[in-house]
Amino acid sequence: MHLDIWHSEDEPRLGAVLAECWHLLADGAAEPQHDFHTTALATTHAGLGCTLRTVVLRKVDPEARELAFYTDLRSRKIGEIQQDPRIALLFNSVSDDTQIRVQAEAVIHHRDSLAEAAWRDLSPRRRRDYLVSGPRGLPWAWATSGLPAEFEGRDPNEAESEAGRLNFAVVVCRVRQIDWLFLTPYGHRRANFTWNDDGQLQTSWLVP
Ligand SMILES: Cc1cc2nc3c(=O)[nH]c(=O)nc-3n(C[C@H](O)[C@H](O)[C@H](O)COP(=O)(O)O)c2cc1C
Repeated sequence: MHLDIWHSEDEPRLGAVLAECWHLLADGAAEPQHDFHTTALATTHAGLGCTLRTVVLRKVDPEARELAFYTDLRSRKIGEIQQDPRIALLFNSVSDDTQIRVQAEAVIHHRDSLAEAAWRDLSPRRRRDYLVSGPRGLPWAWATSGLPAEFEGRDPNEAESEAGRLNFAVVVCRVRQIDWLFLTPYGHRRANFTWNDDGQLQTSWLVP
């Protein structure tokens, strides 16, 4: 689906815009080449203020308003989310002329049924990321991969990859707000979607 607000009879309703947002996000999670496959994740750091990093969008559930990514339990972002679960995600698709900004609340899943199911679906190659030893972000004397030497040259097999399970976490982000911006040469369009604590949705067009 792609919004064609310039060649249709009517301007799109806000509901159609929101549906388009979820479609784009779902496509992003499913297609590695999609611009929404990666997103910038912002968290709050007590000393630094705000920190950012790229993560891969893994799962999208429009009904539950949830977006999920995978990470290492030892990474700095985990501590930041534990301190303050309010996070932001930034998506930009050049091909869809669309930016989506998300405010959400993050929940960390580790060794629960959700994390275990995600782990089972990961190939040994992808599990290798979680075999890095030692705390992530620790200073080192040389340009280390952090991996056991044997896995620098080959993927772990299924049994070897199991050591990463303890480090693997799924972060599920419950969306509170979406800010949609659609760029066109004829003037941009912008809309906001906000869910309150009771799950009620408020929508509005915004001046871009
Ligand atoms: C294209 C790309 C995709 C990435 N995907 C992830 C990811 O899905 N999960 C993750 O934890 N880190 C991912 N990273 C690494 C993070 O950007 C970051 O360097 C790392 O997680 C440490 O972040 P932190 O110290 O803020 O916790 C990715 C980096 C790039 C460049």
